[in-house]
Amino acid sequence: MYCEADILQADSSQSRWIAQQDSSRFGLVNSKPFGFRHSLDRLSLFNLPDLIALAKRIPDHQGFKGWQNGTIAVEDGWASKPEAQLPLMETIENIAETNSLVVLKHVEQDPVFGPALQELLAEMFSLAPQSFQEDVILGECLIFLNSPNRKTAYHFDLEPSFLLQVEGEKTVFAWENGDRSLVPHEELEGYCGAGNLSSAVYKPDRQQDAQVYELKPGDGVHFPSTGPHWVQNGDSVSISVNVNFDLRSMHKRLKYAYAVNHKLRKFGLSPVQPGENALSDSIKAGIWSSARKAKQAVKLALGRSNPAQNYPQWQPRR
Ligand SMILES: [Fe+2]
Repeated sequence: MYCEADILQADSSQSRWIAQQDSSRFGLVNSKPFGFRHSLDRLSLFNLPDLIALAKRIPDHQGFKGWQNGTIAVEDGWASKPEAQLPLMETIENIAETNSLVVLKHVEQDPVFGPALQELLAEMFSLAPQSFQEDVILGECLIFLNSPNRKTAYHFDLEPSFLLQVEGEKTVFAWENGDRSLVPHEELEGYCGAGNLSSAVYKPDRQQDAQVYELKPGDGVHFPSTGPHWVQNGDSVSISVNVNFDLRSMHKRLKYAYAVNHKLRKFGLSPVQPGENALSDSIKAGIWSSARKAKQAVKLALGRSNPAQNYPQWQPRR
């Protein structure tokens, strides 16, 4: 369907990393999953020596580097740890044999990988609808390394995201967002309020509703915010880039409304579900935001602030 000339044309046009003929699909950002072509696999950085060097450059702040060793099933939670963790460098060096998933975060801030990925963030941002752009707080790029034939468990993310395959192959199963029979309020409240990253429950009877994407290097897929997905890796090591955007409507409103509901439920109350009453959501978001700021101020006063809070972030130029 796509030829080399198309990608070269994308490289030389204003749309540098995304294939020009797929640009219009970005009008669907955060409304439904879609596939697209990209040329990120042409960067020569996606090899194990460069990725090991990258992992060593990323600060050891909490959450900046994650990895899982051992077999995962689709219904296992995102946060499950099937086996005791090997050291990170050992996991990456032997990714072909360790049956592992490695996630390297904040790669857009890296001096080597960062410049190209910041271009990618800016390009994707510029292709998205105006309403989405106005909602964006920040963007982030992650790199995933997956062992051959490994699964990535069923889960959803609060961030709308883009998975760009650069090495190896994988099959991606993705659902649309907003279906409360698929992702009920309880799962969202567990994620946003209780901080349970494994709150998504795989529903085998809904597997047939998934859209299926067979990714090779140069293929990408978009996951709308809270749209569930799971991944079956191919028979070789996979390297992919994940582009996330944090949204004001999700991270400063919906998430906070669920967090307040979670607290209220502990007092035996049955609050209005987020999304059902805009005024209620605004009040809850305001309460939670104020409480967070007060908590952070106390930590700062006690000298216990998180050093990662001062780490640079990609923010759109408006
Ligand atoms: Fe995800």
